Amino acid sequence: MTRAKAKILLVLEDGLDAAPIQEALPAGTRVQSAPLNGEHGKLPLKDAADAELMLVACASDGDHVLELIKAAHTQLQSRLPVVVIYAGSPNGFMERAFEAGADDLIALPQSQEQLAFALEKALVRRRGASSSQAGTMIAVLGPKGGTGKTLTTCNLAQALAATGASPVVVDLDLQFGDVGLALGLRPEQTIYNLAVAGGSLDVEKIESFLARHPSGASALLAPVRPDQAATVSPGFLRTVFDLLRTRHDFVIVDTPPAFTPEVIAAIDAASHLCLVGMLDALSLKDTKIGLETLAQMGFEPSDVTLVLNRADTSIGISMGDVERLLGRRPDVLVPSDRAIPMAITEGRTIVDAEPDSAAARAFASLAQTYRAGGKVPRLQPLQPAPKRRLTLLKKGAA
Ligand SMILES: Nc1ncnc2c1ncn2[C@@H]1O[C@H](COP(=O)(O)OP(=O)(O)OP(=O)(O)O)[C@@H](O)[C@H]1O
Ligand SMILES: [Mg+2]
Repeated sequence: MTRAKAKILLVLEDGLDAAPIQEALPAGTRVQSAPLNGEHGKLPLKDAADAELMLVACASDGDHVLELIKAAHTQLQSRLPVVVIYAGSPNGFMERAFEAGADDLIALPQSQEQLAFALEKALVRRRGASSSQAGTMIAVLGPKGGTGKTLTTCNLAQALAATGASPVVVDLDLQFGDVGLALGLRPEQTIYNLAVAGGSLDVEKIESFLARHPSGASALLAPVRPDQAATVSPGFLRTVFDLLRTRHDFVIVDTPPAFTPEVIAAIDAASHLCLVGMLDALSLKDTKIGLETLAQMGFEPSDVTLVLNRADTSIGISMGDVERLLGRRPDVLVPSDRAIPMAITEGRTIVDAEPDSAAARAFASLAQTYRAGGKVPRLQPLQPAPKRRLTLLKKGAA
């Protein structure tokens, strides 16, 4: 697990002993110490430049600690992960540190072995997250409700699993998430249970909170009650995303129809964005605003895959109108299909229930695109679905 000559920046509050922390670090670690001296947000930038990890060891819960974490997060664009070693009393400080951008928290007292293990995991995780091996992370977005984000997320996950990938879905619709229903998974453990589980986060721990789908996909499900959503902070999510990407080749994040702080954390962390709009005037207006918002956030049009759902609806809007309005062509067209809600009723995806349907093929082509590493090369025109009998709800029908 260890690799020699990591450089760790240890920022130590007055009165704390550096020796037990230094002894707990993996052999060969270079430690650069700096004082945590109460100067708000003053980051030892020079020392941080070539550090792999910043450890902030403190016993107080003052603003100066939170300011330092925030400064590391913003001034270094999250390049330097921050692990807080906290020796104070439990009083909500841990949550505030996560919100400020801490990647991991280690509460003292711990035995020397436990501390060594926690620090080693933080380093290993850092390397995994920053390596080129980190999985693709796709944030599925759509500013309007009901456009087909959850449909796209679940079908994309199953279509990717069918290609031999190991996708994981994170349901970030924290108040009204329905990935579990759409995939027929029971919410025995959810992201809420993970968030309140306490202790430090590692990938094995997150894996134990995932629901497993028979396709090979897995899912970190949304809380079962809306009031549990508040426990999930952007800082916590950043760590969850980083860790999942070390284990899964695809992390697909379903989102609610709003740019909440959690959604923005997912957009920041994502390698790919997938915007889902629907063929109707109101949804197209919101899709246009969504594209403009992403452009303002610095994303190029080529960073965003555009899925147009219900693309065959006859409402007097042509594909030319869509292109003129959005300033670009959609990449994937998904037709309306009543087999889709029927499949959802059974907790199945259309990819699973009707693999030959045009909708399933659209999601399979989206999966192939991501398998190939990015954008859809060319719009596939909608193919009429082969004639089929409706067998979903009437399984016994001849
Ligand atoms: N192409 C389609 N054909 C038929 N039904 C569809 C299609 N797309 C979506 N639906 C139905 O519309 C409903 C909303 O879809 P979905 O839940 O995926 O939207 P959403 O964008 O996730 O909504 P929200 O913003 O509320 O999370 C679902 O019940 C789904 O069955
Ligand atoms: Mg949804």
